[in-house]
Amino acid sequence: MKKMKKLIVGNWKMNPVEVEDAKNIVKAVKRAGSKLRKSQVVVCPPFVYTSLFSKKSSNFFLGAQNANHEMSGSFTGEVSYSMLYQLGVRFVILGHSERRKMGETDEIVNRKLKSVVNDGGMTAILCVGEASRDHNGDYLELIKKQIHTALTDVPKKLLPQVVIAYEPIWAIGGASAMSPRDLHEMSIYIKKILNDMFSIASDDIRIIYGGAVDKVNAEELIREGNVSGFLVGRQSLVPKDFTEIMKAVDSTK
Ligand code: PGA
Repeated sequence: MKKMKKLIVGNWKMNPVEVEDAKNIVKAVKRAGSKLRKSQVVVCPPFVYTSLFSKKSSNFFLGAQNANHEMSGSFTGEVSYSMLYQLGVRFVILGHSERRKMGETDEIVNRKLKSVVNDGGMTAILCVGEASRDHNGDYLELIKKQIHTALTDVPKKLLPQVVIAYEPIWAIGGASAMSPRDLHEMSIYIKKILNDMFSIASDDIRIIYGGAVDKVNAEELIREGNVSGFLVGRQSLVPKDFTEIMKAVDSTK
């Protein structure tokens, strides 16, 4: 299988308030994206901004923060995977901890993931991560269950359309990211889970990290963390810092 490009994903969450700011951030990210050689950048704005950014640009992809698994129907307030695809969305974040907190279960994430990769032909960024760590390793079981359930009945041939975003909840929105060394261990563990499930080589599916990534820690995390990129929250709204993160990822082997 061809080596896949690294990925820097910006998760804007419910930001920014001003449409003009949204346009300016995307302009800057697209400009920086055109200079990338070994990676791709994905921006996931709130749904309402999607159509503002669908113009193509090299190494730049439009993403979404969620998608309904049904193509259409009586689901007030929802947006379907198929609608997103037509507006140029090619990546969809699924199972983010902030959505799980609103009631999204592993089973719902599984349904959405199958629609996004199979029927939608897009790439799913599957978020997994523990709220806290314990000495007897229960959190490892939780990660395994999240991955197992979310990928149930996903055909092996569609795995290149799946990215696992490991996001320990305790690091999201916090002051510091997890240590590169602990991340390295976790990445090996996730690769083992995937290998046990699908018998795939360790580079056949991309694992990225999210949780307090910034321009200072990005370089060490990508060099020593054994991951293929990042899912970035707050810093993805600051073009200068996000560009630095993109550069750090792109310049590392
Ligand atoms: P953060 O958010 O980078 O602001 O910690 C990451 C995320 O929630 O995806």
